[in-house]
Amino acid sequence: MTLKTVLVTGGAGYIGTHTMVELLGQGYEVVCLDNFSNSSPEAIKRVEKIAGKKITTVTGDVRDREVMSRVFKRPIDGVIHFAALKAVGDSVKRPIDYYGNNVGGSIALLDAMHERGVHRIVFSSSATVYGVPEKLPIEESAPIRPINPYGQTKAMVEQMLLDWCMADATHTAISLRYFNPIGAHESGLIGEDPHDVPNNLFPFITQIAIGKQAQLTVWGDDWPTPDGTGVRDYLHVMDLARGHVNALEHAFGIGGHATVNLGTGNGTSVLQMIAAFEVASGKKITYQFGPRRAGDVAACWADPSLAQRLWQWQAKLSVERACADGWRWQQQNPNGYRD
Ligand code: NAD
Ligand code: WQD
Repeated sequence: MTLKTVLVTGGAGYIGTHTMVELLGQGYEVVCLDNFSNSSPEAIKRVEKIAGKKITTVTGDVRDREVMSRVFKRPIDGVIHFAALKAVGDSVKRPIDYYGNNVGGSIALLDAMHERGVHRIVFSSSATVYGVPEKLPIEESAPIRPINPYGQTKAMVEQMLLDWCMADATHTAISLRYFNPIGAHESGLIGEDPHDVPNNLFPFITQIAIGKQAQLTVWGDDWPTPDGTGVRDYLHVMDLARGHVNALEHAFGIGGHATVNLGTGNGTSVLQMIAAFEVASGKKITYQFGPRRAGDVAACWADPSLAQRLWQWQAKLSVERACADGWRWQQQNPNGYRD
C-alpha cells in the first residue's frame, strides 16, 4: 500500500487520540491539527509513546485559513474531522459559538481541502442528530430531528457533506454517528480528560472512584426502562477508533456520501453501568436519584448492521472491558494530562 497521510483535526482530543493510535498502527502517516481548546499536547506525546511513531502536529484553529493553507502544503490523502465543541447543555447556552466552530470550522476545512484537491473526509457526527428516537434500535434511515444546537450543527455538516459529494463525483464523505463512547486504551496512557465537572456519566463515575467527585446523581428513576434509569449504547472508544480506520479505507475505495452508525447495538442502564464499574474497579459508586435531566431520552441504542455490511465492523469490546480500561486510565492519571 502506498503510504497514505491523514490529517486528523482535533486529534489531541478523547476520540482523536485513540483513533491516531489505530491509524499509526495501520501504517498511516498522521498530521494532527488542534488548537488545544479542550485538550493537551501531552496527549499527543502519549499517542507517540503507545505507537512508537511520530506525529506531525500543527497547533491552530481549523477556522484559520492561514493555518489551514499551511497544513495542506504537505501531501494529505484524507481527513478525519474531529475538531468541534461537543457539550449539549453548553450549546444551548452559547449556540453561535457552536455554529461558528462546528459548521464554520467544517466550511473552512472543506475550502482548504478543495484548494489542494483533497477529496476524502470522515466526519464525526453523533447519534444526537436523531433527537427523540421513534423506534429502537435506531437505523441510519431514522428521521433526523436534533433537539439542541449541538445536534443541529452535526446535522448541518452532514447535509453540507452530502451536497459537497453531489457536486463532484470524486468527493467521498462518510459521516459516522457515534453513540456513547467510553473507556480508554488498555495502556492507561490516554483517555477521556474533561476540563470541567463531567456532564457525561462515565467520566463522572471514574472521578467518583478516585475521590474527585463525591456522589453521582442519577437523572431519573422513573423512565420507561427495565430498572427505571436511562438506557444508552456505550461503545468502547477503541472499537470506535477502529471504525474510523475502516471508514477511511472505504473512502479510498468509493465516491459519494454515507452516514453510518457506530454503536454496539445493545442498551445498558445507568444502574447497570454503576454495577459494572464497581466490579471492574472494586470501588463503591455512591449515588442518589434526582429529577430527569432536560433533553434526555429514556433509551437510545444503535442498529449497527450497516457498518457490519460495509466494513465487517462490529463492536468487540464489552462494557465491562471499557470499565476496566477507563478505570486504569483514571487511576494512573487522577488529574488527566495535567499530572
Ligand atoms: P474532545 O473535546 O475531546 O476533542 C475535540 C478536539 O478538537 C479537542 O482536542 C479540541 O481542542 C479540538 N478543537 C475544538 N475546536 C477546534 C478548532 N476550532 N480548531 C482546532 N481544534 C479544535 O471531544 P471528543 O469526545 O474527542 O469528540 C470528538 C468529536 O466526536 C467531536 O466532533 C464530537 O462532537 C464528536 N462526538 C463525540 C461524542 C462523545 O461522547 N465524546 C459522541 C458523538 C460525537
Ligand atoms: C448517559 C446516561 C443520563 C450523567 C451525550 C450527548 C451526546 C454525545 C454523548 C456528543 C443518561 C445519565 C448522566 C449524570 C446520569 N456527545 N446520567 N447522571 O446524554 O446519552 O449523550 O454524550 O456527541 O451528544 O448528548 O450521555 O453520559 O450524558 O448520559 O444519570 O451525572 O447517564 O441521564 O441516561 P448522553 P451522558
